[in-house]
Amino acid sequence: MDHYFKTNQSLWDQKTEVHKHSEFYALEDFKKGQTSLKEIELEGVGDVTDKSLLHLQCHFGQDTLSWARAGAKATGVDLSSKAIQLAHELSDELDIPARFIQSNLYDLYDKLDEKFDIVFTSYGTIVWLPDLDKWAALIKHYLKPGGFFYIAEFHPVINMLDYDHDMGIAYPYFNTGAAFEETVQGTYADRESDITHKEYFWFHSLSEVIMALRKQGLHIESFQEFDYSPYNCFPNMKEVAPGKYRMGDFKYALPHVFSVKAVF
Ligand SMILES: C[S@@+](CC[C@H](N)C(=O)[O-])C[C@H]1O[C@@H](n2cnc3c(N)ncnc32)[C@H](O)[C@@H]1O
Repeated sequence: MDHYFKTNQSLWDQKTEVHKHSEFYALEDFKKGQTSLKEIELEGVGDVTDKSLLHLQCHFGQDTLSWARAGAKATGVDLSSKAIQLAHELSDELDIPARFIQSNLYDLYDKLDEKFDIVFTSYGTIVWLPDLDKWAALIKHYLKPGGFFYIAEFHPVINMLDYDHDMGIAYPYFNTGAAFEETVQGTYADRESDITHKEYFWFHSLSEVIMALRKQGLHIESFQEFDYSPYNCFPNMKEVAPGKYRMGDFKYALPHVFSVKAVF
């Protein structure tokens, strides 16, 4: 596992350098005060005023700082040291108090000893995690009784598609237990960028996500599926309504995103 995590850490360090200048992440708009959060999670999480919020896999902290701007006492955690360094810089520059911790999610117990009202994670997270039972145990560990976990994530159905080529089914829906290895050029935020990197990832079905949380005794308060992505992050997406994107030329819309709210 160590090799997988080290490779992915260097992948995300490289991506951070590209992402901070990308149109996709619109850092200048964010600096001017625009939230990076999307309607799905803003509605799903609700009012965060004075709530303590732990953001897992926060990348370079835009969403964490957006929650802080909305009133949360926010802590972001990420594997990439470059991403965490940039998150610290943004917090200082914009004078938005927040705490950031560089850590592999699975090692967080060594670095953080506190309970939170909300544990949050979103868009492009669980594919980097081999073990959702350990993930769910960590979520429960960091929740206060009565607190909740919220995830908005890309739907495992779209993860099956070979969207860089013919949109055929190229990947499994269910977790095979094995890590997938690929060498990828560019990033979803800038497909032309001059980076090539190896990555390791895993597939997780919806039942795997939900049952991992249930096994920890969390109550699933809501589970939703969305027929669009709020991010234009896959090739050849069409904007079907303002800020809503779909991929592929299918007669019926694919599920693009799901969300779960689970209460402790
Ligand atoms: C696509 S980003 C998700 C964040 C958010 N949606 C965004 O776009 O800013 C995925 C993040 O997961 C982090 N990550 C990957 N594997 C991790 C691990 N084992 N522990 C903690 N963070 C990890 C990466 O460093 C990266 O910043």
